[in-house]
Amino acid sequence: MEIKKGLEDVYVKETEITYIDGELGRLYYRGYSIYDLAEFSNFEETSYLILYGKLPNIFEYENFVRSLKESRSISNGLREFLKSVKKDANPMDVLRTAVSIMGLEENTHVYSISDQSIVNLISKFPTIVAYYIRLKRDLEPVEPDPELSHASNFLYMVNGSKPSEEESKAMDVAMILHMDHEMNASTFASLVVASTLSDLYSSIIAGISALKGPLHGGANYEALKMFREIGDVDNVEKYILTKLSNKQRIMGFGHRVYKTYDPRARILKTYAKLLAEKKGGEIKKLYDIAEKVEEIGIKYLGSRGIYPNVDFYSSIVFYSLGFEPEFFPTVFASARVTGWIAHILEYVKDNKIIRPKAYYKGEVGRKYIPLDSR
Ligand code: CMC
Repeated sequence: MEIKKGLEDVYVKETEITYIDGELGRLYYRGYSIYDLAEFSNFEETSYLILYGKLPNIFEYENFVRSLKESRSISNGLREFLKSVKKDANPMDVLRTAVSIMGLEENTHVYSISDQSIVNLISKFPTIVAYYIRLKRDLEPVEPDPELSHASNFLYMVNGSKPSEEESKAMDVAMILHMDHEMNASTFASLVVASTLSDLYSSIIAGISALKGPLHGGANYEALKMFREIGDVDNVEKYILTKLSNKQRIMGFGHRVYKTYDPRARILKTYAKLLAEKKGGEIKKLYDIAEKVEEIGIKYLGSRGIYPNVDFYSSIVFYSLGFEPEFFPTVFASARVTGWIAHILEYVKDNKIIRPKAYYKGEVGRKYIPLDSR
């Protein structure tokens, strides 16, 4: 009996959404190179592409953008919930609960995936995240601005001022790069729930729950914590060697599929550098530390196919854009929600409940002994 621990190399479905070439470090959404999408596309267009399989024409694009914009506001019930949350709550727990409230408000008694639920989820994630960020900072939440794109509006609601063109582009690119990644843990978790014909919100909650972990979407937060802990470029080599000799992991390094440099990390590095040089101060210092961690990490781990992944430089990009580190995974989730939905739609078209097996290796036929005789 061969058990593939962690389902490594196990295919669970066919897909036409995302292709990863882990040996060559290439990534395609619906056949388009991630490099082209990062350079020429934006969140809305790539989201449409991932969901519906083709680049939208101008009519489809404008319709999709309009429906996203019209759905950005959150209900009074959600606002009240966000105001009631303790300030030290984990932001992923807050997001997960907020999506649960959205599901309750939509009254999802039966299995259904409506276009409106899809748009609701994608458009409201940033509003929920930004609303909680502002409350946590003891600031008034900022209402969505329909004049702004999805990425720019997210930053506007977080920072209370309109982002520069560079910031807006960096956010768009970061969200494109996080939008989908084939059969990662959170996508699989959401598929398991969807395959039982549960509702869309319940499936997305499963995705958020899986993404929260430090081995998955929580790694960006851990990476920034590590850069801060290192404190100075001169400390990097000693820090990395100590970690490795204690059998600890370098966060933002390594990947189940990529055995070379993650192309998303390559693109994010460009933006991290650009923003760090522009902003200077602490951000530049953290970027310099990250660059050195990359160099030393590859020196010791590269020969084993362990390189920076998406979470490595996204941490610097998200921080430069005004997000506190504990919120990084919620930004990841705000992009990945599109991928979760696309995979759910693809899977349920030809649904089969996901019900694998566990190989039993315990005893059988044990004699039951009453409690007072044990
Ligand atoms: N630092 C040091 N050693 C590592 C690292 C790392 N970041 N990643 C893997 N290794 C070693 C690991 O210790 C193991 O060594 P050994 O064979 O001697 O026990 C070997 O490489 C294989 O590791 P694994 O955990 O069996 O590999 P996996 O494919 O199950 O795990 C991973 C993949 C991403 C969970 C892992 O590389 C890791 O823990 N990385 C750090 C956390 C991280 O950055 N996660 C983000 C992943 S990418 C985007 C996302 O999903 O959010």
